[in-house]
Amino acid sequence: MKFYIATDHAGYALKEFTKNYVEELGHEIIDLGPDSADRVDYPDYAKKCAKKVIEDKGSFGILICGTGIGISIAANKVEGIRAALCHDAYTAAATRAHNDANILCFGERVVGKGVIESMIDAFCNTEFEGGRHAGRVDKIEGCSFGENLG
Ligand code: RB5
Repeated sequence: MKFYIATDHAGYALKEFTKNYVEELGHEIIDLGPDSADRVDYPDYAKKCAKKVIEDKGSFGILICGTGIGISIAANKVEGIRAALCHDAYTAAATRAHNDANILCFGERVVGKGVIESMIDAFCNTEFEGGRHAGRVDKIEGCSFGENLG
């Protein structure tokens, strides 16, 4: 699998650890920054990563901020992005299986390194189930245009 990764300052400390783990598993991961722990705005990095995931068809993203909340909200503003804020292996597997998530998000202030490894394992080893979930995922795009809300 090919991943793009980005963080804000509050997720920066876990970026190298996460990159190393993804590479140990044999996947490719491209670092989109930041290059230091200086204060930055999470929407800028969320959008940078989301844009790459859309442009590079079939690729995935990992986004980390303090809670994982702001960076996932921002990434989900980009059409075609399904960024999932996960807290454990269960949510990371479920979001691939049911939501066809293309970006895994988590919070540096929320999860530890063991949980991160288990989330990455689950995310990488779970395929989208399609079937009844495919129609629901299609409806998500409709929501961007104000349809499918009733
Ligand atoms: C930065 O202090 C923090 O607000 C940010 O990393 C994130 O948690 C926002 O949702």
